[in-house]
Amino acid sequence: MLSETYRQFLRLVIYQIYPRSFQDTNGDGIGDLPGVIRHLDDLLELGVNAIWLCPCFRSPNDDNGYDISDYCAIMDELGTMGDMERLIDQMHRRGMKLILDLVPNHTSTSHRWFQESRKGRDNPFSDFYYWFDAIPNDWKSCFGGSAYAFDEQRGQYYLHSYAPTQADLNWNNPAVVRAMQDVVDFWVDKGVDGFRVDVVDQISKDFENGRNCFGPRLHEFIHALFGREKTRGLFTVGECWVNDAQEMERHSAFERGELSTLFQFDHMECGRADKFTPKPDSLRTVRDILIRWQQKTAGLNLLHSLFTDNHDQPPLLSRAANDREKRYESATCLAAMFYLLKGVAFIYQGQEWGTPSARYQSIDSFNDIESLNAYQAFCQTMPSEKALEKINFGSRDNARHPLAWNGQAGGGFSDAKPWIPLHSRYREINRELDRAASQSVYRFYQALLRLRRETPAFLDGDFQVVSRPEDGWFAYARTLGDERWLVVCNFEKPQTIRLPFALEAPRLSNLNRAQADGLYAPYECAVCRVLTG
Ligand code: GLC
Ligand code: CA
Repeated sequence: MLSETYRQFLRLVIYQIYPRSFQDTNGDGIGDLPGVIRHLDDLLELGVNAIWLCPCFRSPNDDNGYDISDYCAIMDELGTMGDMERLIDQMHRRGMKLILDLVPNHTSTSHRWFQESRKGRDNPFSDFYYWFDAIPNDWKSCFGGSAYAFDEQRGQYYLHSYAPTQADLNWNNPAVVRAMQDVVDFWVDKGVDGFRVDVVDQISKDFENGRNCFGPRLHEFIHALFGREKTRGLFTVGECWVNDAQEMERHSAFERGELSTLFQFDHMECGRADKFTPKPDSLRTVRDILIRWQQKTAGLNLLHSLFTDNHDQPPLLSRAANDREKRYESATCLAAMFYLLKGVAFIYQGQEWGTPSARYQSIDSFNDIESLNAYQAFCQTMPSEKALEKINFGSRDNARHPLAWNGQAGGGFSDAKPWIPLHSRYREINRELDRAASQSVYRFYQALLRLRRETPAFLDGDFQVVSRPEDGWFAYARTLGDERWLVVCNFEKPQTIRLPFALEAPRLSNLNRAQADGLYAPYECAVCRVLTG
């Protein structure tokens, strides 16, 4: 049984904004907070009721804001604290929730805490980070190379699970826990409604078993942040790689006072052998993973999260479906596959008009630290064209291009040269064109979100699989009381589908189907109500 708070959270449709790439308003080529304010009504019109804003705190931007130098100040390029207060106010007037991105695992090495800490072994901040006389193990940084760097000033090594300028905080020090509680409270007092919590599984390390995550004090630390009276009602979502439903429940059941939900990433591995290597894979794999998680979490007091894309991944549309001739069908079919399942919905900016991966001729078009490091490493063992091919496939920049609001010079994003190039297909794929097209991904999303919002069975209903594992399509039912709905999504091949229910005419479909049964085109989908009585 879901608690009442969680039942309310199920109504959330959260739009993820990568602020640098959303909308520039002052002509410096970088998206900003006033740019977010400008589009609030557009987001309402889409059917969104919350925003997760990627980090907007002061930062030298080695990892685009995930390297924070002051948690309680706004990054200069993005705006001012006044802009942030206006954003919160404008959102609340519209009944929207604002979710900020909290990065508790590490700070920038230019944060005052690190600057103090490196001064020596006897200052108030000396134990804020992990310091060692000798490198204690072979942990690697997620961005390549060793996870340890030597600091000349202190004469010791420190741990950095990401870039050398992102030093891991030592949560075993109670002063770190208090400092992060203060950060959370600062923003709660400003009125924010929740947090997405960056790599939260790493705040407690398991040195004994050689894992830099899921350490013995993880629950305690998360509880210290979000289990207090002041923070209990927040909506929180953890970036936390859990594979087991019971483990998920231990992190996110309402009574735990930890997180409201976690991102489950199994489906993110579809369509690739590793981050930079494609693997032909069909939507069947995605389907099977979705089914597994809907079944595993049924009946538990937890919220599942539903998402296809984020700022760290090339779009699922390009990895697991057809982003060329069948781009419209694929993008809309994926939406129906995911967002009518049970869970909190997350939509990544630009997904709502079917933005695919981009492709560039030169490594100079890329900015992401992970991609640039990987490119250097690839070039050691393969020709540079091959290395570029891999980056074009897997780069996080695939999700970070300036949004293409229209097809004019600057894409409606900025009049200035943008901080990274516009999307390579922006003249052909942009919001304005899509909305005016007879087949519009945007309008499909709008209709889908309206149906979801207005149909209790899609929020709270039970899930049942209707298709069989051997089928090249996916059909599922959502049932609440005597109300039952069916979602049918065909995959890449045309085929005739017969459904085991008497169904009304489709309430929603991407190719204007007149009836549920019959021949389905590639990636055609339909949503119908089951006739009762
Ligand atoms: C998370 C973020 C990613 C960032 C990393 C380090 O995975 O989503 O963008 O680089 O943490 O903070
Ligand atoms: Ca700007």
